[in-house]
Parts: sequence; C-alpha cells; structure tokens
Amino acid sequence: MTLQTDQSIDTSPIAVAADGPSDLDPLWRAVETEMRTRSNDIHVPISFAFAERLCEAYPEADALVVRVAILLHDSGWARVDETKIISEGFGANWRQAQIRFEHELKGCMIAREVLPGLGYDEAFITRVTDIIDGHDTRVESYSIEDSLVRDADRLWRFTPAGIALASSWFGQTPSFYCRRLRAEILPELITAAGLEMATIELDRAEALLKIAVL
Ligand SMILES: [Fe+2]
Ligand SMILES: [Fe+2]
Repeated sequence: MTLQTDQSIDTSPIAVAADGPSDLDPLWRAVETEMRTRSNDIHVPISFAFAERLCEAYPEADALVVRVAILLHDSGWARVDETKIISEGFGANWRQAQIRFEHELKGCMIAREVLPGLGYDEAFITRVTDIIDGHDTRVESYSIEDSLVRDADRLWRFTPAGIALASSWFGQTPSFYCRRLRAEILPELITAAGLEMATIELDRAEALLKIAVL
C-alpha cells in the first residue's frame, strides 16, 4: 500500500535553490572523505535533494532525521574492502551480499563518530542509525522517516546521472538498465510522492537519453 499525501509533489528536474538551507554543511564536511568512495559525492547529494522534496510532501515526518540519515547512509562504503564493491556489491545476488551488510554497519559507526561532536544527542543518533542499519538489506521499513530515506535512496537512480553511474556499475547499457528501473525499482517505492517523482523522472531521462532508439 503506497503512502499517500495531500501535499503538492515537486516533480520538476532535481535541483536545489541557490539560497537553500546550509545547516548540514558541517556534517557534509565531516564526511568528505567518505563521500569519495563509490561516487557517493554524486549519489548522496542528489538523493539528499530528493529527500528534502519528500519531506515537503510528508510534513509529518521528522525532516532532520531523514536529512541526516540520507546524508550518512552510504558513508560506510568508504570503510569496506573496495575491491569487493563491484565484484560482490553489484554481482548476482547483490542485495544480500555480505559487503552490503558491512557498509550498513560501518555507516552506523561513522554516524556515531561524527554526530556527537556536532551536537546531536544519543536519542537522535539512534533514530538515524536505526535507518542506516538495514537500509539496503532489510525488506520492511520501520517508520515514515525510514520510508522517505528508502525512496530518496532509490530516486537518484531515475536521473540521467544515476542511470549513467549505475548502468556502468552493473555493466549494462542505459536502455537495459532503464528497463530494470521500471520493472524492479519503481515497484519498490513506498510513497506515492516518490512513485510520481520517479515515474516522471524516468520518462524524462529516457527521452533525453534516446532510450527508445539506443
Ligand atoms: Fe547503501
Ligand atoms: Fe544509497
């Protein structure tokens, strides 16, 4: 059952306002090193921007928990054996690869390292790590914040940047990868807002990349 909303849904091409909030810049800086692995420095800012749109569509969610959790969710990739990221993380059975559990665990460790010094309390940090832990490997979502992070984590894939990076990770053509997005990833979206954003983004990206021809 898709999570509905009465709020308006922003489906314009993903972008942020020049005068957008910079309150989390200290946290971005704290994990700059971790952003250099596995194109986190492209994936995470784009997913973060989608997360902010989802928070507007679901004002009942705690936006700060969602924003901090999506910012940190894949930081753990920087602390796992890099040679296994492609071989195991994107091979057959990639969803249950050991490397995926490890990146979640390490991401929780990084959250516990960086957040206390930036003034976040224990209860808040636990709400964040509860989302990071299992974000790739757990089937069910535990809370609305968890659901928004899960959808934001997927939404970047429907953009031209996401299609470019992920299709090369999986060794697939853009058109093959777009078919997978439609068949496998669209049905995984939990929120109505996320589903609408993803569908419109994918239609737009497929036209731009001439997927019907190439
Ligand atoms: Fe992940
Ligand atoms: Fe991710």
